[in-house]
Parts: sequence; structure tokens; C-alpha cells
Amino acid sequence: MKIRRAVIPVAGKGTRFLPATKEVPKEMIPIINLPMIHYVVEEAILSGIEQVIFITSSGKNAIEDYFDRKFELEDFLIKNGKIKELEIIQKIGNMVEVTSIRQKEQLGLGHAVLCAKDIVGSEPFAVILGDEIVRGPNPVTKQLIDISSQNKNANVVGVMEVDPMETYKYGIVKGEYIDTNRKTMRMTTMVEKPKPADAPTNLATPGRYIFKPEIFDALKVIPKGVGGEYQLTDAINLLARESEVFAHVFEGNRFDTGNIEGYLNATIEFALMDKDSEAMMRRLIKEKVEKYNIK
Ligand code: G1P
Repeated sequence: MKIRRAVIPVAGKGTRFLPATKEVPKEMIPIINLPMIHYVVEEAILSGIEQVIFITSSGKNAIEDYFDRKFELEDFLIKNGKIKELEIIQKIGNMVEVTSIRQKEQLGLGHAVLCAKDIVGSEPFAVILGDEIVRGPNPVTKQLIDISSQNKNANVVGVMEVDPMETYKYGIVKGEYIDTNRKTMRMTTMVEKPKPADAPTNLATPGRYIFKPEIFDALKVIPKGVGGEYQLTDAINLLARESEVFAHVFEGNRFDTGNIEGYLNATIEFALMDKDSEAMMRRLIKEKVEKYNIK
């Protein structure tokens, strides 16, 4: 079955980016000249998603506005002969169908996804976290959609290997491989943010999932979990007991743009990967290495 909808939770306060996020949603902070959320929505579109459902909170209107048309700006660009810029702006305004739902209280990622229940309805859907960017030749959500359709439209969690000392930052997955390449496994357990000593593996999810609507039944019954929040991980764990959940080691470079180090890393690497800014970034890095005697 085609996956048409992606739920993108963007209600978080972005405290790691204060004071910038006092007035600007974290997702609107740019990497080069595109807001972070642009890269995430682009991944969704390249994966075949037709409707994006943002789970928002107060102060996040800029995200919806970004994906809408802006006629005053278009008029201004026309009058000033800025046709290239006009085309870019119009393309973004027509990029994807956007729906927003307010999460009135931030009760956790599980609660955020549950807010999308009525809009999602009875079709399988994707969940894509807005502060993780994954880049590579094949969009990660598309890779998970393919695994789902090869396995009777099953639930799929995207995973990657992380430093075993960093398991406490992620949902960690355990399962049995179903392929000889050791890329796809039938998940048996998922644990939210375990300490390294308690982690069953070092396979972590950076926030890419394909779900059947049954996930909502699980989300409705889970108690509060780690950090006193309703955790998506707990609902996935419940789902794995009743139905099949696969975990797939995806291909691609993942950038955790939800913290300053990941953000700086993405900025440097995206600039080096971009044909318009590569030469500029190479020159800047070279200058800094010499000026600050970086070894
Ligand atoms: C959330 C999820 C966690 C996942 C992580 C990816 O945690 O609960 O399972 O691994 O996103 O970024 P958060 O980072 O929102 O605390």
C-alpha cells in the first residue's frame, strides 16, 4: 500500500538552541540558506509522501508559513526582476500539502504522534523527526517504505549503529536478522534511552518509522515512561508483541541537528557537499586552519 502521509513532530521548545529559539522555531534555523525542516520535508517528498502533518505548539507558525505561498514577497520579487528567487519561493510554497495539529501539552513523542490519529485515519504512515537530517542517494523514509512493502506492509523502524557509550540518547532495538546481509531484523524489543550497561545492542533509531494505524491503539494504552513522558518506544514495544515490527539498518549519513555540535557538523558538511558553496567552504576552512594553527 502506498504511504501518503508523514507525521512530523515539531512541538519541542528547542532549549538547546536558546536564545535563538525564544522567537524562532528550532526547525526554522537555517543550514546554509535552507531551514532545517526543509531538508526533512524534502526527504519525505522524495520518499513519495503527499501530505505532511506537523504536530506543532504555540510559536511554531513560521513552519507552516514557510511551506505556504507568500504573495507580497512574490510581487516584490517580480517587481524587482528577481526571477530566480521567485521561482525558488514559489516552488517551496507548492512543495507539499501541509496540515498542522496543535499538541497543547508536551507530554512526549508518543503523545505527539497520537495527536495525528484522526488525520491519519486507517492508512499506514511515516513518522519523521524534525531535528534529525539523513542524507544519501536513497531517502531513508523511502528505504523503510520499501522494507515495509516487501514484508506485507509491516511496521518498520529505521536504525543505525551508534557508539555503545551513547545508547542513553536513543531508542535501542533488539531483534533477529532475517537477511544474510544483516540489514533487516524482526524486532523483539525496544528500550528507550538505556544506560550503556543495560542496552541490549547499539542499534539506535534516529527518528524514522513506518507504522500501521494499530500504533494508535498502543499509544492510547501505554503508561508514562522514561522522563515521565508518553514514549513512542513503549508503544512500538507493545506493537512488537502483537504484530510484526521490523528494524532496518538504513544507508545514509545522519546529522543530529538538534544540538549545537551536530548543527555545526551539518553546516560544514552540507556546504562541502553543495556545488554552490563547496569552494567557499574549502577556502574558509583552509584559512581558519592556518590562522588558528589547527593541527
Ligand atoms: C526521541 C525518541 C528516541 C529516538 C530519538 C531520536 O528522543 O524518544 O527513541 O531515538 O528521538 O532523536 P528525544 O531525542 O526526543 O529525547
